Amino acid sequence: MSDADAALAVIGGTGVYQLDGLDIERSVPARDTPWGMPSAAVTAGRYAGRRVLFLARHGAQHTLAPHQVNYRANLWLLHELGARAVLGINSVGGIRADLPPRTLAVPDQLIDYTWGRAGTYGGEQGRPVAHIDFASPYSESLRQRLFAAARRASIDLREGGSYGCTQGPRLESAAEIERLRRDGCTMVGMTGMPEAALARELGIDYACLAVVANWAAGCDPNPHPVTLQEVQMHVRTAGAGIAPLLRALLEAG
Ligand code: HPA
Repeated sequence: MSDADAALAVIGGTGVYQLDGLDIERSVPARDTPWGMPSAAVTAGRYAGRRVLFLARHGAQHTLAPHQVNYRANLWLLHELGARAVLGINSVGGIRADLPPRTLAVPDQLIDYTWGRAGTYGGEQGRPVAHIDFASPYSESLRQRLFAAARRASIDLREGGSYGCTQGPRLESAAEIERLRRDGCTMVGMTGMPEAALARELGIDYACLAVVANWAAGCDPNPHPVTLQEVQMHVRTAGAGIAPLLRALLEAG
């Protein structure tokens, strides 16, 4: 199969290690790129009749922490396989009151608090230094297609505001989240960057589908100790909306 016309590539985050509804035609083994090894093999197949690629960001067994993910290799391989649009699925903590656990949201802005991650293709491998326009970090056309698909499929998809990307892998202190809130962040995750910027460098239409797994530190209106079990349950519940959303997105062409 040629993936030259892949309609969409999906990068799955925490809790999304395969793409429900993808009719898998082949698996492309993880292979060395000029930027090193990607996180996992890419599965290629059909979703609602369209060619779709899937890659698990943290590896098939979730062995890579957010700062260990080779974002450059992941996007390079997907681009090489024909992806011109990429949807990054990212689990997040909700900061804004209308982003409680189990919500799906699409942000339109981001703030990068990460450090030390390889965040550009420019200036290496003989490539020119890149100063991409990043005023609107996500593809507005892909975002609007997602909202239209959500309306058609009757899925509650929130206009998510600003994604704050922290270094992790630990969660944040309440004071750190308070600072993010003051900065205008409405949600917090660890994997949105440099993925979005690298996609822009490659000319890929990129959007983020945020899955709210928990209240960010200090934001729970009924504070109680958060268990891993509870977080996983929230991701599973919210994740149930991903397949119908993707189906509606891809059916629309
Ligand atoms: N903080 C950062 N990343 C996250 C969180 C969080 O609370 N929940 C899921 N990913």
